[in-house]
Amino acid sequence: MKTVYRTHYSSETADVTAGQKVTVCGWVHKVRDLGAIIFINLRDRNGIVQVVFDSARDAELHSIVSRVRAEWVLSITGIVKEREKANPDMVTGKIEIIAEQLNILNEAAPPVFSISDEQDTDEITRLHYRYQDLRRPESVRRFILRHNVTFTIRKYMDSLGFLDIETPVLTKSTPEGARDYLVPSRVQKGKFYALPQSPQLFKQLLMMSGFEKYFQIVKCFRDEDLRADRQPEFTQVDIEASFVQQQDIRTIIEGLLRKVFENIDVKLPDNITVLSYEEAMDKYGSDKPDLRFGLDFKDVTDICKDVDFKVFKQIASEQGKIKGICVSNGASKITRKVIDDLTECVSSFGIKGIAWVHLKENLEWQSPVAKFISVEKQKDFNEILQGKSGDTFLFIANSDPVLVNEALGKVRLEIADLMGLKSDKYSLLWVTDFPLFEKNKETQAPVSMHHPFTAPHPDDIPLLDTDPFKVRAQAYDIVLNGSEIGGGSIRIHNWELQKKIFELLKLSPEQIDDKFGFFVKALKYGTPPHGGIALGLDRLVMILCGADSIRDVIAFPKTANGICPLTAAPSTVTDDQLKELGLKLRN
Ligand code: AMO
Ligand code: AMP
Repeated sequence: MKTVYRTHYSSETADVTAGQKVTVCGWVHKVRDLGAIIFINLRDRNGIVQVVFDSARDAELHSIVSRVRAEWVLSITGIVKEREKANPDMVTGKIEIIAEQLNILNEAAPPVFSISDEQDTDEITRLHYRYQDLRRPESVRRFILRHNVTFTIRKYMDSLGFLDIETPVLTKSTPEGARDYLVPSRVQKGKFYALPQSPQLFKQLLMMSGFEKYFQIVKCFRDEDLRADRQPEFTQVDIEASFVQQQDIRTIIEGLLRKVFENIDVKLPDNITVLSYEEAMDKYGSDKPDLRFGLDFKDVTDICKDVDFKVFKQIASEQGKIKGICVSNGASKITRKVIDDLTECVSSFGIKGIAWVHLKENLEWQSPVAKFISVEKQKDFNEILQGKSGDTFLFIANSDPVLVNEALGKVRLEIADLMGLKSDKYSLLWVTDFPLFEKNKETQAPVSMHHPFTAPHPDDIPLLDTDPFKVRAQAYDIVLNGSEIGGGSIRIHNWELQKKIFELLKLSPEQIDDKFGFFVKALKYGTPPHGGIALGLDRLVMILCGADSIRDVIAFPKTANGICPLTAAPSTVTDDQLKELGLKLRN
């Protein structure tokens, strides 16, 4: 785009024929002062170009440019010339601009940290001066990718006939398992809006309104403990459709992700793996297994019933589980120290130890438990775990099979890091058939695993009365490289069933009415079967650009303490503001 300030972006000068005049503008990335000649690397959003100021050509211009420092804002007109020695590391490395005119548009205070060199500046400082941090070419690349991804999504959803409809931000609580951010009302003193944890209820209401296909790229707000992949406000690609079943939603999302991955030149496989929740937990100890590597669990409980190793024998006889993984060539890296660290790491699950076996030549065992397990039995283990010499087995035993899965799942991930198995491939999978309810750890009462609008599996409806924890949900998650990048479900469209679920969740009729009365009422007025999903856009983009933290792909993120170092939000308010809202702070 040509403007009054520029004829070309820096990167476009690469294609300009030598001898042509161009005007570029941007920030001073680097100055190289060789005395008679000064080189300036000028950076704009799209790249960097080298400009030459030669005192022999124009002494006055040379003296002006000698004042210029990093991050000053310049407009430069000059003639494109082929470089004598090309720089293969720069897109514009074959040319340079011989300056004829310089316009200093703005001087700049010295940058707080270097923008041209990748230095290890601490994150708080970078976020405090985020506008400088965002100038870095790596940052710019990430936000261009993020833009391309959202643009791709909008085009794709539009091509399928989905309508982009906005839902309110000042609203009522939507249960997604986190705390709400509350906004006090001035007009209705003593009352509060909640910021949406997701547009869940509104997107279902849009289906009841007859829109059939809705999407929105929308901010959601959740007051929860933050981590590298969580922010208090984050963006969902929120989708809902009527007259669909699970397979339809999966097909839509697979198509969408295929298009999205084209932005990074990756072709997704034709068939995306689908695992049931039960299988995922049983084989990988996680409902979001990273399938870039194997290390799947092998169950050895049966063959442990008659070994002399007391721990295994007893657990096998009490309906417990003993499971193991086989680490290919593990013997070289899995030292005593590693075992001690892993043992420490699983102790939080109440697991007392990890049994290890290094396979020697001829598959002989080197292990503290070898003396308790006959050579014949050892062969059975070797067969089940498919060990080769040099491999290492790691076993966990416990009377609670759930704890075995969770602890071995953790070990699996630690070992993948240790052995360098997390390659830069992409591994996508669906996890389906989640349980409808999980147990509240304190009260043992059912709580929704997804949210309370999720439909039970039709075959399991009778179990709602007899064994609710056995009921499977028509819920599905999409997992990329071990990270949950989206989740959704087919919804309940029958108000009696919805009421029953609320009752199972121990909500009183008054609570149902207060929280969801409007929604339950709407269900009665002609609700089509419907379902949907929401993708976590920030997480998806973070993985696509190989960033370590979700903060790297959010322009103005918050720290783990929920603070924005740039604006210092959240901040105190005046007494007058509180008074106007009818609020008083408690000490
Ligand atoms: P869910 O709660 O699974 O589903 O959220 C969908 C996806 O949003 C992302 N996500 C987050 N990303 C960053 N920071 C957070 N704090 C955060 N929390 C969630 C995850 C997650 O998979 N209404 C339902 C969807 C539906 O049923 O259609 C919902 O919000 O990638
Ligand atoms: P011990 O008999 O307690 O000395 O344990 C012998 C070996 O069994 C050690 O290598 C322990 O780490 C291991 N071990 C102990 N408890 C368990 C368990 N629950 N699961 C797997 N291995 C265990």
